[in-house]
Amino acid sequence: MSADRDHITPLATAAADRPTSDEEDPNTTSTRRPSSRRRRCLICCGSCTALVAVIVIVLVIIVLTVYKVKEPVITMNSISIKNLKFKTGSSLTSPVSLNMTVVADASVKNPNAASFRFGKSTTDVYYRERVMGVGYGPPGTAGAHKTFPIKVTVDVIANQLLADPLDLIGDLAAGKLDLTTSTKVGGRATVFLIIKRHADVMMNCSFTVAVSNMSILDQSCNQRVRL
Ligand SMILES: *[C@@H]1O[C@H](CO)[C@@H](O)[C@H](O)[C@H]1NC(C)=O
Ligand SMILES: *[C@@H]1O[C@H](CO)[C@@H](O)[C@H](O)[C@H]1NC(C)=O
Ligand SMILES: *[C@@H]1O[C@H](CO)[C@@H](O)[C@H](O)[C@H]1NC(C)=O
Repeated sequence: MSADRDHITPLATAAADRPTSDEEDPNTTSTRRPSSRRRRCLICCGSCTALVAVIVIVLVIIVLTVYKVKEPVITMNSISIKNLKFKTGSSLTSPVSLNMTVVADASVKNPNAASFRFGKSTTDVYYRERVMGVGYGPPGTAGAHKTFPIKVTVDVIANQLLADPLDLIGDLAAGKLDLTTSTKVGGRATVFLIIKRHADVMMNCSFTVAVSNMSILDQSCNQRVRL
């Protein structure tokens, strides 16, 4: 009960105690000092404990909020091929040349209550482990629980870029091209205006293009997020 009262009026008690104990003569103070010091100590300890408790609670709230930042989810909505053209036997140094446009229609979903700012996205198109073209998507912001589109068009001009043109000739003869796209985008969620949480999202898609009609026969994607 007395501890409770100390808690409620620590400042008033301290202010009332201090002048009287200072003005009193040494004899009386020697008998009163220990209890008043103990009381001051209790008040001080109480305030310190309360302050520490408040700081701990605030830190826990911040940590929980920041750790609750969920990973953005990247989705490949569709991949399409346009303007697929190829020539064979044009010359001995480049016996085959192939041009096409890869349109990768992807999006990033922000599952958080805080908005996510995304930087420029990069999409590389690979054919047999070699980069055949690169496309960039614009930066932007995905609001809370919103989806951010990252549609990218990549022009592929494959001639000298080919490691072994015979592979391409073989694939064209078989009527199927196996391609891979790798899309990367970095983003940042801002919590409490000052705490920033970074996330890098990467998605690779492997797909097979039917050369005759430019349709996608088979597609599989996997993604990786680094918070
Ligand atoms: C591919 O594009 C390049 C440059 O635009 C052009 O020189 C080449 O003839 C094209 N090849 C085909 C097969 O259309
Ligand atoms: C495109 O061609 C492939 C193989 O030639 C075939 O399997 C596929 O059904 C065709 N798709 C369309 C939409 O015509
Ligand atoms: C995507 O492909 C790139 C290049 O081949 C590779 O370095 C990366 O680890 C792959 N990422 C995923 C998520 O598979």
